[in-house]
Amino acid sequence: MERQRYNLVTAWDPVLRFLHWWNVLFMSVQVATGAIFMLSGDGLGKGLEARLVFIHAASGFFFGAGLFGRILWLFVGPPSASWRDILPLTPVQWRSIGETIRFYLRGFKGALSPSLSHNAFAGPVYAAFFIIAAVQVASGSVLLGLPDKLRAKSFSLELHETGFALILAYAGAHVLAVFIHELIERHAIVAAMIHGRKTFTEAQTDELVERYANLNDGGIDERKD
Ligand code: HEM
Repeated sequence: MERQRYNLVTAWDPVLRFLHWWNVLFMSVQVATGAIFMLSGDGLGKGLEARLVFIHAASGFFFGAGLFGRILWLFVGPPSASWRDILPLTPVQWRSIGETIRFYLRGFKGALSPSLSHNAFAGPVYAAFFIIAAVQVASGSVLLGLPDKLRAKSFSLELHETGFALILAYAGAHVLAVFIHELIERHAIVAAMIHGRKTFTEAQTDELVERYANLNDGGIDERKD
């Protein structure tokens, strides 16, 4: 029986991976503490509220630092982390967007061309997330400096609450999409966000080599049966 061969191909650099999980960690703290504020109304005692505000604000600055790092990395990082890989700038990326939409409309059936790094359809969603998250950090910082009376009626609070809903929707859709793509495509993408390398069949690797000219310059690390 012929055995299928797989290649491990470097997709994500260490800085991008570190920033991804850093942002997941601090965004989770933000969402959890933000949800407690929204659900409890004025029901929290003064002491507990002050402690939660401190945790929310401190974690918000850590998240802001990670986000700033990731945005900087869009401009100084390697090609797979670049803004050029996220925005649909080439005919290949537009073809991949059309292919991904058709794949979704078919109910996730049929073949999807492999993406070495960002899926072209997901790229603009990540770009929108970076912008919304930056506005969220800015509106949170403004709120922190406002006296209680002004804070409750401020535009920054409305912006911060809308941003919260959008970020929550993004996180849910992102994790769902990751799991669906992993179940169907099996490129080990969650593991790749940890160790950096996606898994591709020989045929998919050949397709990638054709599409990404520099892939053979050390990109393919290991082969396994
Ligand atoms: C909720 C907070 C999260 C945020 C803000 C977030 C953000 C992002 C961003 C921006 C990217 C693109 C990579 C980059 O350009 O940096 C990405 C990719 C990815 N994320 Fe997340 N993520 C989150 C949660 C998660 C979780 C919980 C998982 C795992 C279960 C996950 C798994 C992945 C994977 C596997 C990719 C790569 C997708 C691919 O190969 O095309 N993410 N994420």
